[in-house]
Amino acid sequence: MNVKLIGITFVSVLFVAACSASIYIPTGKIARESGIPLGQLLQGRELYVEKCSSCHSLVNPARLTAKQWNRKLRVMAKRAKLTEKEKQLITNYLIAGSETE
Ligand code: HEC
Repeated sequence: MNVKLIGITFVSVLFVAACSASIYIPTGKIARESGIPLGQLLQGRELYVEKCSSCHSLVNPARLTAKQWNRKLRVMAKRAKLTEKEKQLITNYLIAGSETE
């Protein structure tokens, strides 16, 4: 492997790590406040990173309100071909971290 290729690989690994690092990681406190079990929020985050980053970069949950997320998810769930269960988990994660109105 030449130096240039190593450089490109390194930069793209950093880039992917930086993208998912900027969205919040659920804590016990957020779980209690939202009334959603922590395990489900963590699963929702994982699915969000996995299913929603192929076409565009991940939008920070805090950028939209719960109402706006619900509206977006109606369209995006179809685009990402989510099952009903996946859609629910992702929605819960996004709304628990959404902007408060
Ligand atoms: C097949 C490609 C595709 C997938 C997969 C996808 N999106 Fe999108 N998304 C788009 C396109 C194209 C736009 C911009 C145009 C639009 O809003 O329709 C967009 C726009 C958005 C926006 C608005 C961005 C902004 O800056 O306001 C949000 C929020 C969003 N997507 C969330 C999601 C979520 C959540 C998922 C996972 C469930 C997802 N997307 C999966 C194609 C996709």
